[in-house]
Amino acid sequence: MKAWRVHELGEPADVLHLDEIPDPEPGPDQLLVRVQAAALNFPDILLCQGRYQERPPLPFTPGVELTGEVLSAPEGSGFRPGDRVLGGPSPMGGAFAECAVLPASNAYAVPPGMPADEAAALYLTYQTGHVGLHRRAGLRVGETLLVNAGAGGVGSAAIQLGKAAGATVIATAGGPDKVQVCRDLGADHAIDYLAEDFVAEVKDITNGRGADVIYDPVGGDVFDASRRCLAWEGRLIVVGFTSGRIPEAPANHALIKNYSIVGLHWGMYRTKDPALITAVHEDLTRLYADGRIRPFVSERFPFDQVPEALTRLASRRTVGKVVIVIAEE
Ligand SMILES: NC(=O)c1ccc[n+]([C@@H]2O[C@H](COP(=O)([O-])OP(=O)(O)OC[C@H]3O[C@@H](n4cnc5c(N)ncnc54)[C@H](OP(=O)(O)O)[C@@H]3O)[C@@H](O)[C@H]2O)c1
Repeated sequence: MKAWRVHELGEPADVLHLDEIPDPEPGPDQLLVRVQAAALNFPDILLCQGRYQERPPLPFTPGVELTGEVLSAPEGSGFRPGDRVLGGPSPMGGAFAECAVLPASNAYAVPPGMPADEAAALYLTYQTGHVGLHRRAGLRVGETLLVNAGAGGVGSAAIQLGKAAGATVIATAGGPDKVQVCRDLGADHAIDYLAEDFVAEVKDITNGRGADVIYDPVGGDVFDASRRCLAWEGRLIVVGFTSGRIPEAPANHALIKNYSIVGLHWGMYRTKDPALITAVHEDLTRLYADGRIRPFVSERFPFDQVPEALTRLASRRTVGKVVIVIAEE
């Protein structure tokens, strides 16, 4: 099969090579899958650069979420050849290839009628959003949710999930086009945080209360400012650091303003609580069937353009999800 592989760490365009390698051998608890589509994620860039918290041994294939057709499945796994599944290859990466292996315990049925490009994007960002907003932050109906970088992959899912949860959603984004994307995704209010003081705007929108829950994949200055527009008993979810700076928060500020900083490492639930991931997938399937969520796939690239697609993601110019189409359905 053909697989994109990183032989030395660096920028995706410099270090990714399309290699011809043997098909992967599934282990006793794994599915062998013919990959139909793989969605890009910011961690793919960090994996290539060696800046992600996990470092797979070289050479490795990036790509952390996919959808495809089962070629072989272990007895008793609940799957059989021909089933359409989505999930994340194991242990980390492997989706940017014609075939991949998925742990049967971390593979999920594609919702009925869902096209492959959307199915490829229903896993990582939606699972992260659901676990972050519900399990970690306890978002309640009628609360105000602020989603930073709302037009991005993680952000676009969080806007939809926040609306589906009955929250009033405020989104921030860089530039007027991205602000419009946030509105189109369902945000009640959208702020261009490169041009406006979003702290003042959030306070204005909430009559001075601030947001009950803030979902922050940006970190750096955006995280620092977010602490100033949290409501009483607010929850600030630490999702990621696309700004490049890991922020620090003074504990006395959390004490005085009575808020919580909530860490979120969704990937750990795959081993610590797989039943939660299954329950979340079932809820996502229901929300998709009800038309409450739908992955926003803004761009599709052919398999031979994975480096170009990742370079575009790193440029901060993409919105929603960028998907690699690897094989016809
Ligand atoms: N905690 C978890 O379990 C978990 C799970 C999945 C992903 N994540 C993290 O979530 C973050 C977002 O991932 P993603 O796939 O959604 O990425 P994405 O689609 O590229 O979105 C990231 C957004 O960050 C904003 N941004 C701000 N400063 C930036 C900078 N200097 N360079 C690039 N982008 C910048 C951009 O929006 P604006 O232009 O609007 O500012 C961009 O659209 C990553 O840090 C990822 O590691 C965490």
